[in-house]
Amino acid sequence: MSEQIIMPKNISKAEKYDLLLPQLKSLLEVEQDIIANLANISAALKEVFDFFWVGFYLVKDDELVLGPFQGPIACTRIKYGRGVCGSTWKSEKAIIVPDVEKFPGHIACSSLSKSEIVIPLFKGNSVVGVLDVDSDSYDSFDGIDEEYLTKICALIKF
Ligand code: SME
Repeated sequence: MSEQIIMPKNISKAEKYDLLLPQLKSLLEVEQDIIANLANISAALKEVFDFFWVGFYLVKDDELVLGPFQGPIACTRIKYGRGVCGSTWKSEKAIIVPDVEKFPGHIACSSLSKSEIVIPLFKGNSVVGVLDVDSDSYDSFDGIDEEYLTKICALIKF
């Protein structure tokens, strides 16, 4: 197993995701531990796209609790239906927020975060967590991010 992400520079976002996906698949195939896998996915996404913050929140009882992440320290607990993460848990659908200040109830872990995408994680039909990616620029995420981040999340076996 390669313990290094191979990524050329000066290629498009979709091309980067296309190259990253099989590398993450190989990485996850050889490891069953969920924390180890979530940690490596966070690190790979941060390294390849230099996002401001990348990480996971996992459902524990009636809250999301902070899991493996890369970036500045963050809020540790988010209630069901609260913020972008709690809303994604509730709606069971990805949410793209071009400007966090315009999302009612957005939870500002950092004032530097300007836009955000959150993807639900499923075990069977149940949401067991979310992937949250933050950018320090407005309008950083689109359908390409949603498509590929959803594919990456589908690789995760809980
Ligand atoms: N902004 C998120 C909270 C998590 S941090 O961005 C890492 C939200 O509104 O749910």
